Amino acid sequence: MIPAAMPAVHLDPRLTPIYPLGTELDERGRLQLGGCDALELAAEFGTPAYVVVEQDLRTRAQAFVEAFRAASPTAQVVFASKAFPCTAVYRVLAEEGIGCDVASGGELASALRGGFDPAVIHLHGNAKSEEELSFAIDTGIGAIVVDNHDEIDRLTRLLAERGRRQAVLIRVAPGVSPDTHPSISTGGPNTKFGFNLPEAAHAVRRLQADPNVELRGIHFHIGSQIMELAPFGAALRAVSELGDFPVYNLGGGLGVQYTTDGPEPPSIEEYAIAKVRMVEELFGPGKTVIDEPGRALTARSTVTLYTVQSVKQNVVNWVAVDGGMSDNLRPMLYDARYEIDVVSRMRTREDAPDDVLAHVTGKHCESGDVLVRDARLNAPRVGDVLVTPVTGAYGHAMANTYNGSPRPPVIFVKDGDARVVVRRETREDLFSRDV
Ligand SMILES: Cc1ncc(COP(=O)(O)O)c(C=O)c1O
Repeated sequence: MIPAAMPAVHLDPRLTPIYPLGTELDERGRLQLGGCDALELAAEFGTPAYVVVEQDLRTRAQAFVEAFRAASPTAQVVFASKAFPCTAVYRVLAEEGIGCDVASGGELASALRGGFDPAVIHLHGNAKSEEELSFAIDTGIGAIVVDNHDEIDRLTRLLAERGRRQAVLIRVAPGVSPDTHPSISTGGPNTKFGFNLPEAAHAVRRLQADPNVELRGIHFHIGSQIMELAPFGAALRAVSELGDFPVYNLGGGLGVQYTTDGPEPPSIEEYAIAKVRMVEELFGPGKTVIDEPGRALTARSTVTLYTVQSVKQNVVNWVAVDGGMSDNLRPMLYDARYEIDVVSRMRTREDAPDDVLAHVTGKHCESGDVLVRDARLNAPRVGDVLVTPVTGAYGHAMANTYNGSPRPPVIFVKDGDARVVVRRETREDLFSRDV
């Protein structure tokens, strides 16, 4: 169980749920992350930079493992590594004893590099290539989550050629759409992911007929940033018509709180108990329940630091920073909302008289490159270091080099020490693939 937030010295209680565990302010009102001063981190490593509080990541992984184990001794937690595919993150989560979901050959290579045993890795993807399937089979991957009939053709041929047996799950689109942004809703009847129910029944028969395939069970992932538990029950009821299997992988999707006024998700414990009970009620005891958290494991562990490059007024105030859609695409893809603060003048409970309402924008040549609209910042000026919390999921993962922007480093902080686990990309790196 996650301890109630560690004593946050002077950190406004409104901010506590959106900053990494253990975040404090020092007596000057400056942000301290994992025992490191945010302003000093910016000076030492430059900005933009992702700062990961390692203890937050570990505590959350332990909370997931304990919650699912308490709900069912056979339950398994696998890290949906697309959320933060960084070798050091894979390493921490492998050390914490969870499994790993990969969505490509590249993520599989990264998971292996991070120390995951192939037997605890699951391969996903709606367009797995022959090379990716071969890599997974030859690596001895724990399970392949089959998405479509063409993949079954490819997989059964590759297994026959090798004379190997492979455990698989079937990805099913149960026809359930949770209340989330359409771009991160994946379980509805018309999704690109998996088989709809009639096709899934056909896939079950095909896979059960193949001697090289061990069909273990059903997988669904209905979407991301989900704040209510009922849709998982609806999805399970829908897939129950496919038969009775030893394994039910209920995907990930548990949401996180991104803003001080944003909705609060169910706790990890409530989520684990609810998912396990739903399986038991429908299918009886003894099933293996698998969960695949991405965002809920990694999002809150991380903040992004930026430096203000300009402050101007064009009708409204615009504060421009040295990053943007190259390090955080979520506001542009899903209208995702974030908050932002000046690390040396963090917000207090009573908003200060010199607070300014501003749009915080990135440096890229797109009008949509706005990180936070209507942010309240304390007297922002050029050179200030700003911090956006809750950027540990789908931030580094979707980083890109638009406008020739080298991608930011990833810095781990723990007990007052900071270490670079991914260095900043250089301009030379931008040409590294030129032939
Ligand atoms: C198959 C699968 N499992 C798990 C996840 C993780 O979702 P979340 O980060 O919302 O927990 C995703 C995210 O897209 C997914 O596609």
